[in-house]
Amino acid sequence: MKTLEELKTACENCTACPLHSTRTNCVFGDGNPNARLMFVGEAPGEKEDLSGIPFVGAAGQLLDLYLDAVGIDRRDVYIANILKCRPPRNRDPLPEEQDACMVHLREQVKMIRPKMIVCLGRISAMRLISPDYRITKEHGQIVKKGSFLMTAVYHPSALLRDPSKKEAMYIDMKNIKSTLESLE
Ligand code: URA
Repeated sequence: MKTLEELKTACENCTACPLHSTRTNCVFGDGNPNARLMFVGEAPGEKEDLSGIPFVGAAGQLLDLYLDAVGIDRRDVYIANILKCRPPRNRDPLPEEQDACMVHLREQVKMIRPKMIVCLGRISAMRLISPDYRITKEHGQIVKKGSFLMTAVYHPSALLRDPSKKEAMYIDMKNIKSTLESLE
């Protein structure tokens, strides 16, 4: 089995879809390789593309606030995205880009073996939980899939656009934290 560093290098050399030609950096993932909790977002934005680190822009700063608010240390979790390269003008990832990129996420999950995966937003939930996932109805519901628990919460960018969703996000994040503690 490859190491996480080897997977990262393979990802940095990936040319499986056209997005490789417009990326500044491949945004492989960041965090604790032994994390019990893994977050999966959609795709890198501008700040992530420039830095090579997921969730460092405005959405990432808001995610950090929720982690802090419920007592989860960002250094204890692992954060990745469905796509490792930024789509032009932050458009939604195309199905064929997701298909091409999923190999990297699957390998990451196999390596990290988290207890729980939290999808950040609709795109990630539709890809990882169910193609007909309805984020407004189903956010916060925790399901067992294979050897881990899975759930989805609103994407932090959605909270920036619609602050009325913030309370639901706080409740979901508190529930994620207490569920994780109950597994110990
Ligand atoms: N939005 C995402 O889905 N992922 C990032 O890394 C940044 C913003």
